[in-house]
Amino acid sequence: MDKAILDAQIRACTLCPLHLTRTIGVPAYVGEHYNGLAIMGEAPGRDEDLSGKPFMGRAGALLDEYLSALGLSRDQFMLLNRLRCRPPNNDIRSSEAIAALTACDKWTQEELNENKPRVIILMGRTAAKPIFGTTSVSNGRGTYTSVDETTFVYTYHPAAALRSPELGKFIMQDIQLAVDLWKLLK
Ligand code: URA
Repeated sequence: MDKAILDAQIRACTLCPLHLTRTIGVPAYVGEHYNGLAIMGEAPGRDEDLSGKPFMGRAGALLDEYLSALGLSRDQFMLLNRLRCRPPNNDIRSSEAIAALTACDKWTQEELNENKPRVIILMGRTAAKPIFGTTSVSNGRGTYTSVDETTFVYTYHPAAALRSPELGKFIMQDIQLAVDLWKLLK
């Protein structure tokens, strides 16, 4: 499917009740220099809900800092979220958000089929759950696994590093691991 059509469908999606409270659905951002590396977060927050773009708030700014420290920038990545609509009060564990996961996984499949990333960095437990199951971030971070043609790296969400800045070094190590794997798989 053409990206513009897919994006329009996601922005206007009514597949789950989160559409009643969100401003706009947030499709993936695909950077100008994207070449098979993706980052998946959890869900849009207030800034993303208003702008319609992923990782626009404080967690996104911290992600940009980590990428820049590694000599990278977001225009080399596809950025997407497991949920495309902001859950009320940003509560990713609310019953509405949990119910939305199944509906929204359809869009994840469509966006991944469209852009075919070879390596995906899963940030936080919600993003990682379909691949890493119930493994906690502290136990699973820095590990990777391949499913079919795609390799998944597990790390902390930058929002966790806003609360606990010492986690930033692990996030950077895990982004570097993903880049190294991506180079090997090229
Ligand atoms: N947190 C996420 O997981 N995704 C965003 O887009 C913003 C904050």
